[in-house]
Amino acid sequence: MRGTEKEGHMTLGQLEAECLDCNKCALRAGAKQVIFGEGSPDARLMFVGEGPGRHEDDLGKPFVGAAGVLLDKIFKASGLKREEVYITNVVKCRPPGNRMPTAKEIRACGDYLKGQIQLVKPSIIVCLGALATKTLINPQARITRIRGEWFERNGIKILPTFHPAALLRDPGKKRPVWEDFKELVRVYRDISVEQMDLKW
Ligand code: URA
Repeated sequence: MRGTEKEGHMTLGQLEAECLDCNKCALRAGAKQVIFGEGSPDARLMFVGEGPGRHEDDLGKPFVGAAGVLLDKIFKASGLKREEVYITNVVKCRPPGNRMPTAKEIRACGDYLKGQIQLVKPSIIVCLGALATKTLINPQARITRIRGEWFERNGIKILPTFHPAALLRDPGKKRPVWEDFKELVRVYRDISVEQMDLKW
């Protein structure tokens, strides 16, 4: 069962409606809107960033500011289409001044991210940056040490890589991220072909 269908009593649309109505932490009051996530509810590949920034808060979509423009370029160069993947963040409301979300805010938003993962059921999750890496792999994880390594949690392959905003600050990180995307696409294409088996 995937995000478009019913799982127990909750669908992705219902989870989104709940999230849009959320007031579990103080971030909601300081943000213009809740940015739940977007993309295919049947995506095999999910990207998880940190939290919405100013442009995302203005437009209501994840990764539409400068980091998002760069992410789109990386997608294009990798042969990935934004519509075929699912994109979200650890926290769904913009932290004031783009500060790092607090542990309390991350916890308050945790069930939404967990629900998105359970409902979309991706085969692969890419953690964009340190916060997603710590949240989904290990709170002690250091992105600089483990980027490009595969992890597995609940049968889902997880690949941490640098956040696109980090590449804007330090273009030296572009090369390792490109290596990570080449590896990602290789594994993703293999999985996609396996799952197409006998669908024709
Ligand atoms: N940075 C993020 O982590 N997420 C966004 O949606 C935009 C910028």
